[in-house]
Amino acid sequence: MTTVLDVQRFKDEGRRFTVLTAYDYLSAKILDDAGIPVLLVGDSLGMVMLGYPTTLPVTLDDMLHHAGAVARGSRQALLVGDMPFMSYHASTEQAITSAGRFLQEAGMHAVKLEGGGPVIEITRRLTELGIPVMGHLGLTPQSVHAMGGFKVQGKTDAQAARILADARALEQAGAFSLVLEGVPSKLAVDVTKALRIPTIGIGAGPGTDAQVLVLHDMLGLTTGKAPKFVKRYANLAEEITRAATSYAEDVRRGTFPGPEHEYSANGASPAKDREEVRYGG
Ligand code: KIV
Repeated sequence: MTTVLDVQRFKDEGRRFTVLTAYDYLSAKILDDAGIPVLLVGDSLGMVMLGYPTTLPVTLDDMLHHAGAVARGSRQALLVGDMPFMSYHASTEQAITSAGRFLQEAGMHAVKLEGGGPVIEITRRLTELGIPVMGHLGLTPQSVHAMGGFKVQGKTDAQAARILADARALEQAGAFSLVLEGVPSKLAVDVTKALRIPTIGIGAGPGTDAQVLVLHDMLGLTTGKAPKFVKRYANLAEEITRAATSYAEDVRRGTFPGPEHEYSANGASPAKDREEVRYGG
């Protein structure tokens, strides 16, 4: 099983690695079997699974529900649960309780928190308590309103210096890795060089130690113009449309179900009596 020690070793040995988001049992199983070492149950599920315009409405219960499903589908990956908006902002005590639930109830191995500043002290406490923390700086979607939209961060010298200082402080506080989202490539390289722990980029150029993408973007399940940093490795939206229309056509024409999809009456064949009727086979 991949652990926080392994991801540190990947960086120490100069081995770039992948992180993908996962939100449900079957996709976690497929990604885990494909050897993706780190699965992040991101609060991006609010946008791609639940249809919200931002991640802000996502609750801790939403996250735990999906995280549990991912844990049931996974055997080898390091599982990281994303702490949703307002599950760690009120106090360190609240953060400890929320993070504890990810590990105790949902089978996660670590949690991710957005931001620097007060989140640095929370990171220190969680780490002291044995809860591994992935940091997240740059474009932090839970601060979308403070940032005036989903905008690239760290473009000015002052902003870049702030992000670098927060990155160092998060490492000092015990974070085992750091997501850098929506920052100029040069800043991502500077942070990556300054830190001992691995950096994980999304919209941060090629110079980080690892890359993360939202699964639905990577698979082409999201449609329309993709953000610049996304590469679509499949076009599943088209594939699903094709499958759904050809299923509908078969039903209309009466060519589905065919004889091979039918059950016979009891006693026709002993083997057939043992046939199971269940989903997800
Ligand atoms: O919520 C999420 O999926 C994330 C990643 C994009 C880093 O935070």
